[in-house]
Amino acid sequence: MSDSTFLLERRPDGVVRLTLSRPAIHNAFDDRQIAELTAAFGDLAGDKMVRAIVLTGAGKSFSAGADLNWMRRTTTYGEAENLRDANALAALMKALYQLPQPTVARVNGAALGGGTGLVACCDVVVAGEDALFGTTEVRLGIMPAVIGPYVIAAIGARQARRLMLTGERITAHEAARIGLVHEVVAGELLDAAVERVVSHLLKGGPRAIAAAKRLVHDLAGRPINQELIDNTARRIAALRATPEAREGLSAFLEKRKPGWIG
Ligand code: COA
Repeated sequence: MSDSTFLLERRPDGVVRLTLSRPAIHNAFDDRQIAELTAAFGDLAGDKMVRAIVLTGAGKSFSAGADLNWMRRTTTYGEAENLRDANALAALMKALYQLPQPTVARVNGAALGGGTGLVACCDVVVAGEDALFGTTEVRLGIMPAVIGPYVIAAIGARQARRLMLTGERITAHEAARIGLVHEVVAGELLDAAVERVVSHLLKGGPRAIAAAKRLVHDLAGRPINQELIDNTARRIAALRATPEAREGLSAFLEKRKPGWIG
């Protein structure tokens, strides 16, 4: 694992910390790292012991996005090869977005291009004051295509138009203002802030959290019509009948902690 491009640390309470680990190039990712990360997210998705995933970067930055040496190589590729590469990056974003467990981005510095894409795919985003965000692709003559759906889902088309067309870099506070970031803290308080988020996540029933995450994904942007209302009723009816719901409701009424709190 010594030449791995990321570090995976598992805690006994089910919290996994995944640290992108190519600090010399600000954790930019190439085709190899994309494949490794996609496989890692696939493994985590199926791991019932995992309760929350924290994504962060080693060194000064969270992630400088696509490795621009690799991007430059792709300009000499044929269309089929380029499509294969683009699909691989799209699969990485989808794998992160669709993880059943809650994800927390711990943004310790620059998160640019695909780095902003990774952030947009996470459920909760905590950023250090000196973090930077931006979809800089147009300045490189490309565009933020495969991260587009996730960035737009996170900040809406109005803000995405500004960010994607200007290619400007924005501060953590500005990113919070437009809804990309949930909380901004001084760098030295980043771990404590992430730990607070994680402690909330560990209080929820794992199945309930996964169902709530799917609920948001499936409902976002859909018209509130009878079909949608029926769909939400079916979801809660199915969840109420689970052992986890019985345990959670009984624990509250019996003034004790539910079994999933260690
Ligand atoms: N791909 C490949 N290499 C990258 C990179 C990327 N996305 N981002 C940074 N690097 C490399 C630099 O080329 C430099 O390499 P060198 O030491 O061989 O010269 C090294 O990382 C250090 O970068 P530097 O720019 O000197 O560090 P910095 O602290 O001044 O700035 C960033 C850090 C991340 C803000 C800056 O490097 C940057 O803006 N990178 C481009 C980010 C980007 O636009 N990504 C979108 C990709 S689609």
